[in-house]
Amino acid sequence: MIIDIIAVSLALIHFAFPLAYYFYVKEKWLPRGWGLKISGAFEPRVTIIIPTYNEETYIVKKLENLYRQEYPRDKIHVVVVDSASTDRTVEKVKEWMSTNRDMKVTLLVEHTRRGMNPALNYALSQISDTSTEIVVFTDADSFWQPDSLKKVVKYFSDPSVGAVTTNVTYMGGGKVSVENDYRNFFNIIRVGESKYYGTPIHNGTLVAYRFDLIKKIGGIPEFTGNNDSTLASLISFMGFRSIQIDDTTVVEPLRDGQFYRKVRRAQHLILSFLIAKRFAKKKGLYVPTPFDLIWNIEWWLHVINPWIFVSSVILFLISALMYGSAVGLIVTLCGIALLLFRPYRTWIMHQLYLVLGTLKSLWTKSIVWDK
Ligand code: GDD
Ligand code: MN
Repeated sequence: MIIDIIAVSLALIHFAFPLAYYFYVKEKWLPRGWGLKISGAFEPRVTIIIPTYNEETYIVKKLENLYRQEYPRDKIHVVVVDSASTDRTVEKVKEWMSTNRDMKVTLLVEHTRRGMNPALNYALSQISDTSTEIVVFTDADSFWQPDSLKKVVKYFSDPSVGAVTTNVTYMGGGKVSVENDYRNFFNIIRVGESKYYGTPIHNGTLVAYRFDLIKKIGGIPEFTGNNDSTLASLISFMGFRSIQIDDTTVVEPLRDGQFYRKVRRAQHLILSFLIAKRFAKKKGLYVPTPFDLIWNIEWWLHVINPWIFVSSVILFLISALMYGSAVGLIVTLCGIALLLFRPYRTWIMHQLYLVLGTLKSLWTKSIVWDK
């Protein structure tokens, strides 16, 4: 039946395209060199901004983690920007500052919570040190390796690099291994894309930017709620490479409440895909580069591909339930049975997050989120 043929074709497109892209990137792009001139001696001043809202569990561990970076401490300035936390985050930062005076830490406190990006923009406006070349944003609940900052910064010694992020893995919790398989799948794609030119998806666990590029953009745009992928994409549109490196890894604890978190992250990403390119063009920042190819593919994978899956499922259901088609019924049942298989289930959940994230954008941008 024609409806079955269409449904099968849509399902094939949905699954085959990302898989083909994965293998292509892994075989063709990932093994390449960076095509950059990197100098390990490059050690500019770095401002590291940590946005916090109710982070009393992690903030001291986070400051300790930054304190232990293998980078000249007199070139690091840490800024904590808190938005009216209702727990002891601010007190804990103050206590830590009073006992560790050899690292420059500034605490900024907002008295109302307007969201992470407004807080980060406030922190950016307070950077008076004109010699800061690199700005790093990092979530309070993310932990770097001792060499992370050193490794990230050295890529900026090549003037064509505008943004750098790292691989991420999860720690703790029972579901860690499947989450990590999944993360590794994406780490491979992101690093491969980075070797080709750049990747539109960065990780807020550690994102480093050339400060003058953020200034040219006019701060972090507030058409979406993330501080990582949107800026990285804009910087690529400006003709600088936004790369994910794989010679250091950052760890993030797997927290509860992953469902809402993932829908929100997906939503922020969707908004970035829907608006960033137009935004860059409107601001006169856009230049054509090989990044456009990657952008178009990722745009399709995030904005269109999930809906192809949804359409396919709907057609199979119509075919099975309304026309009593055996094919429709078998495929539907197989699709349900496959959910027992974790990688498949994880993929389907990812599609669901993207679909729900898109729908949610119809009424909110989620600039402030539950914690
Ligand atoms: N100052 C401030 N104000 N900080 C905030 C606020 C706020 O209103 N809301 C959240 N934060 C801080 C958190 O304390 C944390 O350090 C960081 O922003 C990220 O927030 P999480 O609640 O931990 O969310 P996540 O782990 O899902 O964050 C990821 O998703 C975002 C996009 O949805 C991160 O990787 C972000 O960097 C990313 O942009
Ligand atoms: Mn987090």
